[in-house]
Amino acid sequence: MIGRLVDHFYARIRKDPDLGPIFEAAVADWDAHRTLLISFWSAVMLKSGGFHGQPVQTHRALPDLTSRHFEIWLHLFAESASAVCPPDAAALFIDRSRRIGASLSRAVLHRAEP
Ligand code: HEM
Repeated sequence: MIGRLVDHFYARIRKDPDLGPIFEAAVADWDAHRTLLISFWSAVMLKSGGFHGQPVQTHRALPDLTSRHFEIWLHLFAESASAVCPPDAAALFIDRSRRIGASLSRAVLHRAEP
């Protein structure tokens, strides 16, 4: 389910006029990015402990991110979760994405400690 969610979400992201160009410029290897994001969501949802990225540093390095980018990201993620997952699972993914989005955007946009 996580794999299908990530695929659905990235199909939407890459077509989005605001987010698409940021991702196309930053991601050199989409297979590696897909694998990383699946391990991220598995770690978040299943406590699988297999994620070894550094999301705060990664997002701080992206040029000119704004709160609007985070809002669009969360909107597309919620739409994708609702399309791919049963309602109870979708609600869990959306809740976690909003919590992570809030702390990540504070850390990235305001340089707060994550
Ligand atoms: C709730 C908000 C978000 C979450 C949970 C999230 C999650 C992630 C994670 C886990 C990674 C891998 C990080 C790593 O390599 O350690 C990543 C990478 C990335 N994210 Fe996000 N992200 C969010 C918001 C955004 C936004 C708003 C943008 C841009 C509009 C964005 C653009 C990217 C890009 C371009 C990469 C790949 C960077 C690279 O490969 O160098 N993300 N994201």
